Amino acid sequence: MKYTVLIVDDEENARIFTGTFLSGQGHEVFSASNAKEARDYIRQGKADIILLDVILPDGNGLSLLEEIGKLSFRPPVIMITGNGDIKMAVDAMKNGAFDFLEKPINLSQLAETIQRAGETVSMRRELAHFRQSQHQDLEYIIGSSEKMNTLYDYAQRVATTCVSVLITGETGTGKDVLARAIHKMGPRSQKPMVAENCAAIQSTVMESELFGYEAGAFTGAEKRKHGLMEVADGGILFLDEISSMPIDMQAKLLRALEERAFRRVGGTNLIHVDVQIIAASNRPLLKLIEENRFREDLYYRLKVVNLDVPPLREHKEDIPDLVGHFTHFFNSKMGLNITDVSPRVIDALMAHSWPGNIRELRNVIEHAMTFCDEPVIDLHHLPAEYRNYSPPV
Ligand SMILES: Nc1ncnc2c1ncn2[C@@H]1O[C@H](COP(=O)(O)OP(=O)(O)OP(=O)(O)O)[C@@H](O)[C@H]1O
Ligand SMILES: [Mg+2]
Repeated sequence: MKYTVLIVDDEENARIFTGTFLSGQGHEVFSASNAKEARDYIRQGKADIILLDVILPDGNGLSLLEEIGKLSFRPPVIMITGNGDIKMAVDAMKNGAFDFLEKPINLSQLAETIQRAGETVSMRRELAHFRQSQHQDLEYIIGSSEKMNTLYDYAQRVATTCVSVLITGETGTGKDVLARAIHKMGPRSQKPMVAENCAAIQSTVMESELFGYEAGAFTGAEKRKHGLMEVADGGILFLDEISSMPIDMQAKLLRALEERAFRRVGGTNLIHVDVQIIAASNRPLLKLIEENRFREDLYYRLKVVNLDVPPLREHKEDIPDLVGHFTHFFNSKMGLNITDVSPRVIDALMAHSWPGNIRELRNVIEHAMTFCDEPVIDLHHLPAEYRNYSPPV
C-alpha cells in the first residue's frame, strides 16, 4: 500500500535523499524544512506518516512530536536521531514516537519502518470506517433450495476472482447478505468491504465521499479526506442502490474503474487502487438505460458477472428453514426461548406471496415473537393480514 509521507528536516539534501527514495517506492511525499511548515501540512491532513528530524530551526522535534500526540488523528511519527544518541531515541519513544531511525538513514530499514507504520495507518482508517458504518448483526445465508444453491455456487466462483459483480433482485431478497458473503468467502476477506448506499447520499457529496478531497477543495474542506475508494484499497467497494447514482457521477465512476485510478476532489495526483466492485440494484437497470438515466457503458463494466437473487415466492421451500433461522436469531436477540412454530403458521406463510421477500418474512417473525408468550408461535401471533389461509379440506 502507498502512503503520504511528510519529511520534516532542515537539511535540504537529507529531504531530497529520503524523498526521492520514498517517491520511487510509490509513496506521495511532502517535505517541510521547519516546524511551522510541518504544522501546516499536518493540519491539512497531508501526512499519513511523519519522518521527523530532532533538530529544527524553529523548535525541537520532540516538542512537535508531543503536539502531534495530542491530535485526534495521530499519524505515526518516525524520529530521525543522531547516530548513537540513545537518550534522544529513548525520549522519542517515551513521547509516543512510532519508531526511530539513526542518521545516516539506511534505506532498507526506512522502507521497512514505513511499511510497518503504514499498516497502523490502514488499520486505523478501516477501524474509523467500521465505527461509522452501522453494521448489521452478522448473519448467515439460509436456503437450500435448488435456486439458492445455484446462486451460492456462482457466488463462490466470483469470490475467488476480482471481477466486477452486479447483484440484482427485488427488494428484501438478500442482495446485501450475498455481497457480504462474497466478501467473506474470497481472498479479500482480510481487507475491508466498504459499503456506499447511493440512494442515501446526496448527489453533491457523492464524489468527495467516493474519491475523497484535498484541503481547500471547497468551503469547509479543512483537511484532506480519504474517500471510500482509498479505504477499500485491496478489498471490496459495495455500491448499493447503484441505480440512484447521478449520471455525471456515473461517468466519473466509469473512468475510475477503467483506469483503476482517480483523483481526489481538488487534487491533481492520480491515485491507483486495487478495488473489487460489487454493485447492487433492485430496479431494472436496462429500463433506466432506455430512459437515459443509467449509462450503458457503466452497466456492462459493472456486470461482468450478474447474480440475480430470486424472489422468495420462487423458492418457498426455504420458508421453514428461514423461519427456524429467524426464530433462533430473535430468541438470542430478545432473550426469549421459543422452540417451535405451529404447522398452521407454516401453512399460512407458505400461502403468502411475499412481495417484500425475506425481509418481510423476517419482520413477520419478529412481530410474532414480540406478541408470543408461549413456547410455540401460533396463528394468532401473526399480524392479522397473514392469518388468512384456508386449511386444505
Ligand atoms: N438468504 C437469507 N438468509 C437469511 N437472511 C436473509 C437472507 N436473505 C435476506 N435475509 C435477511 O433479510 C433482510 C433483507 O436482506 P437484504 O438487506 O440483503 O435485502 P436486499 O436485497 O439488499 O434489499 P433492498 O433491495 O431493499 O436493499 C435482512 O435482514 C437479511 O438479513
Ligand atoms: Mg440492499
